[in-house]
Amino acid sequence: MPKPKDLVELSYLSEAVSDMSFLGLMRLLESARAFNQKHGVTGILFYDNQQFAQIIEGERASVMKVWKRIQEDKRHHRVELLEIKEISEKSYPDWLLRFYGGESLVREYPALAEMVGGMDKQSLALMNKMREIQP
Ligand SMILES: Cc1cc2nc3c(=O)[nH]c(=O)nc-3n(C[C@H](O)[C@H](O)[C@H](O)COP(=O)(O)O)c2cc1C
Repeated sequence: MPKPKDLVELSYLSEAVSDMSFLGLMRLLESARAFNQKHGVTGILFYDNQQFAQIIEGERASVMKVWKRIQEDKRHHRVELLEIKEISEKSYPDWLLRFYGGESLVREYPALAEMVGGMDKQSLALMNKMREIQP
C-alpha cells in the first residue's frame, strides 16, 4: 500500500508593517503562488484593516518551508501561529493561494470584489478572528 501523505494545515495571524497597496498585495501573491505551486502548497490569504490571516496546507515539509518564508518576510510582524494540524485532505486543493480582501479593501479597489467570492465556514471563522484584532 502507498504510504499515506503527511498532510498538514497551518494557520496564523499577523499585522502588515504598513498598509498594503493593491500593487503590493499583487506582488506578494505572485511570489507566494509561484513558490506554493513549486511545492504543492495551497491555501487562502485574508487581508483587511492592515491585518493578515492565512491558512496553508500541503505536505508537512513543504508547509514548513513556506512557513519559514512567511516568518522571514519583513512586510509583516507580530506573526502569531494559531495551529498546525494533520489533515486527511486539503480544503483548498484548487487554490495556490486564494485571496480574500475585506470590505475596506473592496471599497478602495472594486475590481477585487470579483476575485473573492463566497467563503467556507473555516475561512469565515479565521476571518472573524482577524477582525477582533485592531491595529
Ligand atoms: C502575509 C504574507 C503571506 C505570505 N504567503 C506566502 C505563501 O503562501 N507562500 C510563500 O511561498 N510565501 C509567502 N509569503 C512570503 C512572500 O511571498 C515571499 O516569499 C517573500 O517575501 C520573498 O519574496 P521575494 O523573494 O519574491 O522578494 C508571504 C508573505 C506575507 C507577508
